[in-house]
Amino acid sequence: MKIDKNVENDGVIFMSIKENDEKAAETVHDGDVTILAIESSCDETAAAVVRNGREVLSNIISSQIALHTVYGGVVPEIASRKHVEKINGCIRAALDEAHLTLEDIDVIAVTYGPGVVGALLVGVSEAKAISFATGKPLIGVHHIEGHIYANFIENKELEPPFVCLVASGGHSHLVIVRDYGEIEIIGQTRDDAAGEAFDKVARAIGLGYPGGPKIDKAAREGNPDAYSFPRAQIPEAKYDFSFSGLKSAVLNLINQDRMQGKEINQADIAASFQKAVVEVLVSHGIEACREYGIDKLAIAGGVASNTSLREQLEKECAANNIRFYRPSPVLCTDNAAMIGAAAYYEYMKGARFGLDLNAVPNLSLGGRERRYHGRRG
Ligand code: KG4
Ligand code: ZN
Repeated sequence: MKIDKNVENDGVIFMSIKENDEKAAETVHDGDVTILAIESSCDETAAAVVRNGREVLSNIISSQIALHTVYGGVVPEIASRKHVEKINGCIRAALDEAHLTLEDIDVIAVTYGPGVVGALLVGVSEAKAISFATGKPLIGVHHIEGHIYANFIENKELEPPFVCLVASGGHSHLVIVRDYGEIEIIGQTRDDAAGEAFDKVARAIGLGYPGGPKIDKAAREGNPDAYSFPRAQIPEAKYDFSFSGLKSAVLNLINQDRMQGKEINQADIAASFQKAVVEVLVSHGIEACREYGIDKLAIAGGVASNTSLREQLEKECAANNIRFYRPSPVLCTDNAAMIGAAAYYEYMKGARFGLDLNAVPNLSLGGRERRYHGRRG
């Protein structure tokens, strides 16, 4: 995965990520489906061109992280405004990098939920406008399904069924991908999402936003056994998660230390907190593979880029004869290539969305309206 990074002057980072420089329009074959995908559900404006679900011709990400850092988190109104400014440039860059024009595109895909409503609306309106102007079919994609499908991009041989651990800023799910578009949820968080816990703990110990990568880095210098934080188990729903007790335990420790005039040890807290989250995520994933007799485990979402989670899963999967799949970190966090991958399988199943497509900020996984009009030709 080749990454070119350019920092723009208004605090927005522009990244161009390509699998292979040689891949271009001239390699097109009969029956190929080339998708222009758009993602704007949170603080990344992204556009990508993806062929046949697994081949990334271009992947442009304009990240607003620097802008929101000042406020300690994503400010929805700022995010929406930046999306409006950046989206056309991202799409143009995605087409240019793929050496294609809109005429070469077969399908327009866009994330329509879940996410920040104003942010989602920018991508959805853009995709609808392009679909209307060009007459190309439109596919709405569930953001979390997109994260799961990111696994197909670099693992060409991966086929369902597999277990997938999805951990992002807003969601923590344990799912079985039974088939393309058939996702069975076997566990989910009862309170905070894993990424949310990382973000809140990072803020509490003074590491700031974005919490996940900062805790990941700080934890490398700390002792993961310095503190014993709780690992919540929910007996009646063993694959569910709960991270709010863990977060409270960290906050209590910080308050105690402060009251006693002690300086908090950021690295030790980060390492011990991270160990607690990672242990729960790993044990749930491995146990699900064992119980359901599935020998493939994938990870998805921003937290899937966590170094310790990847290392521990690598180890545990090897010990349990499970094949472990993980996207490159840049495909774990928000991007449009994953949306193009998910859209391809929807399109091939016959899904088509109309111009009445709207942003659905609380779109549930599996609760998505599917519009199939028979298989494509
Ligand atoms: O998937 P994502 O980019 O956006 C959402 O759909 O939410 O996930 C963002 C989340 C944030 O909570 C961020 O702190 C977390 O993923 N994250 C990480 C790491 N990188 C991002 N958490 C732990 N370790 C990381 N290296
Ligand atoms: Zn995401």
